[in-house]
Amino acid sequence: MGDAAYVRFDPLFPERQAEAMLRLCERFGRYGTYAEEAIEEDFGAGLPQRYDAAINFVRTGGRFGRREPLARLAARTNYFRETYAYDRPVVAGIEPFLHHEGFADAARKVHGRAIVAPNIVYANLLVPGQELAVHTDVPEFRGVSRKRDPQWLIVAMHHSRLFERWRMPIATGVAWFGNPRGGEFVFYPEGPFRPPVAIPVRHNTAIVLDTDSVFHGVDRVREDAAPLPDLRPGVELAYAGDGAWQLEQNGEVLGRYGWGDLRFSVSWKAYCFADEAERRMVDEHTDDLCREQVIETLRTDLRRRDRIGAGPVPDAELALAIIEHYIVYPPPASGAEAR
Ligand SMILES: [Fe+2]
Repeated sequence: MGDAAYVRFDPLFPERQAEAMLRLCERFGRYGTYAEEAIEEDFGAGLPQRYDAAINFVRTGGRFGRREPLARLAARTNYFRETYAYDRPVVAGIEPFLHHEGFADAARKVHGRAIVAPNIVYANLLVPGQELAVHTDVPEFRGVSRKRDPQWLIVAMHHSRLFERWRMPIATGVAWFGNPRGGEFVFYPEGPFRPPVAIPVRHNTAIVLDTDSVFHGVDRVREDAAPLPDLRPGVELAYAGDGAWQLEQNGEVLGRYGWGDLRFSVSWKAYCFADEAERRMVDEHTDDLCREQVIETLRTDLRRRDRIGAGPVPDAELALAIIEHYIVYPPPASGAEAR
C-alpha cells in the first residue's frame, strides 16, 4: 500500500483536560487483558484470530529480531485494554475525547471523506517489558463481521485489494497521556518496505492515521526496574491510589508500578463515509458481501497466481495460502539479530 496520510497533535488538549484523562484512567480502575474474541463459524478452525501477526512475530522476533520463548513473547504482547465508549460513552468524562473536532478533521484528511462518525474509544495499558507486535488492524467490510469471520481473513481481504468496493474506511486516533520510558509508536507510512517512523510517547500528544492499512506496533516499554512477570488468564492491572498501580492475579500482587512506568494510550475509531447514500447502504445492507463470495474471489485469485493447485484445496491449506500470500509484513529492522 502506498504513502499514507497522517496528522499529529502536540498538544492534543489544554493541559487540564489532559490531566483529566489520567484521572479518568484511574477512576475506571481495573483493566483486563485483551482476550480473544469468539467467532461462530469454522473456516480455518484452529487458527488463532490474528494468526498472521502472531506467526510473523514468532518468526522474526519482532522489529528488533529478539529471540525468546513463546510464553515470554505471549506475556509481552498480552497488554491491558478496556472500553471507554462504544457508540456512546461508557465512562463519564470521555465525551471531549470521543467528539474531538481535531480528530474528526484529521480523519477527513486521512480518507478524503466528508462524513466522520466516531464510534469506539478504548484504553490500552502496557507495563514495563510489554510491546505490541507490528500489525494492521482488523478492517470492516459491508457484509463481513468479526463476530462471524476470522480476523486474519478480514485483514487479508483488505491487503488483497480485491474487496475495495465493500470496504468501510475507518480512521484511528491514538493519544498518549503520561510519559513512559520506551514504548515508542512505530509505523510504516511509506509501506512495509520503507523505513518506519518511531514516535516517542509524550504526554498529551496524538496521531490520526489509517491503522487498517498502515503497519504499526509498539516498541518495548523499558523494563529495567523489574522484569515482566508471567501473566496468566485473569490477570488485571488495578489502580491502588496515590499514583500507584498493581498487577493482580487471584488476589496475589505480581508487580507494582507508578505512572512513570506505564504506557497509557487511548484509541479512537471513526467510520468515514463519502456521503449519506453510502451511509444508508451500510445501514440498509443493500450491497453486502457474503462469505462464499469472499472465499471464491480469493481462491480464484490464488489459482491465477499459481499459489494453490487447480483441484480441490482443503480449508486449512487455503487459509494458510491466503495469509502467506496477501499479508506481507515489514521485515525486521536492518542490523537486527534475526537471521
Ligand atoms: Fe493496531
